[in-house]
Amino acid sequence: MRRVAIEDLDCGMIVGRTVSGADGRALLTQNIQLSENYIEKLKNLGIASIYIKDSFMDIDIPEVVSSKVMNKVAKNLKTSLTHLSSHKAIDVNILKKGVSLLIDDIMSNRNLLINLEDIHSYNDYLFFHSVNVAILSIMTGISLGYPEGDMVDLGLGALLHDIGMIMIDPAIVNNLNKLTPEQMAEIKNHPEIGFNMLRNNREVSATASHIAYQHHERFDGSGYPRKLMGKQILEYARITAVADTYDAIITDHPYRKGYSSTEAVICIRKLTGTHFDPEIVGAFLSNIALYPIGSMVMLNTGHVALVITANRLSQDKPVIQVVCDQNGKMVKKSFKVDLSRTSEVIISRPLSRDETNLIYHNIKQQLPSEQGQQHVG
Ligand SMILES: [Fe+2]
Repeated sequence: MRRVAIEDLDCGMIVGRTVSGADGRALLTQNIQLSENYIEKLKNLGIASIYIKDSFMDIDIPEVVSSKVMNKVAKNLKTSLTHLSSHKAIDVNILKKGVSLLIDDIMSNRNLLINLEDIHSYNDYLFFHSVNVAILSIMTGISLGYPEGDMVDLGLGALLHDIGMIMIDPAIVNNLNKLTPEQMAEIKNHPEIGFNMLRNNREVSATASHIAYQHHERFDGSGYPRKLMGKQILEYARITAVADTYDAIITDHPYRKGYSSTEAVICIRKLTGTHFDPEIVGAFLSNIALYPIGSMVMLNTGHVALVITANRLSQDKPVIQVVCDQNGKMVKKSFKVDLSRTSEVIISRPLSRDETNLIYHNIKQQLPSEQGQQHVG
């Protein structure tokens, strides 16, 4: 399974993973063969990329949190936020139950690294982004040794970190052009608005509501709204700040394609010590796959390989399957290498999405026609 941008989809490709909306509806179902109509529908829904199955070297991408749980929590969040915007109270208990489901899934998949490249409509960004930030924050909390009770608080605060955004004028939030200084100032009000929405709710702890207040503060004091610095910023908010940034940069936006996991890790590392607390970043990155399962990498031998198993202890040394040379000429017999067991073969760099598409295209040309056409499109 691999992620393919909408503009690179071809008729005949097989959908690898169901795409759901935050209202729980399946927008596109797994195993469907793509037609022009489906591709057009995806464009109209504001979906930038989807997962595709390639039968000739298909690998399953394990999920730290099942799509079922993720969709349920996103749906409950959407319902709650819709209530809020019509001045009804939110059901915090249902959100807490959702956070507990996330924690259960994460705890039972502790050996997995996150391969978070979830694909949803731009319209549902706030809901799925919030769920992703909660997942990433909980995983970081576990790495820091937090007890389970604390993680419910951390997870709830992370899930509600951007709650203030629903009170900002949608014309500003959805503005794809450069924002004016006035519009920017309005967006920057969302932490305080969110905090004020949560602080008087007895079901929400003071720490959880402070996540909403402080998630845009930066370690060096360059953030907002209060320019707090270092340990003045609540630890939970320092965690959510990293999770929020990471998920925002890996996600496709109408104005910019999402970063690959490797690019996002490099970006987070660059901002460590300035924007982010180094200790928190260490715990955060211990959960992120530097080379996600299903991605393609270039080796020092000049071969191209597919990452098939991540290595939690040594993330730059996953198990790989060598598939072709750098021109896309398939090796006579594909073979696996556990990079943690050799010092001779190393990853020189990850392949970009465009390079990966080209490799798949070249491989398809070399396959017997039935296999190439029927499954790869
Ligand atoms: Fe925010």
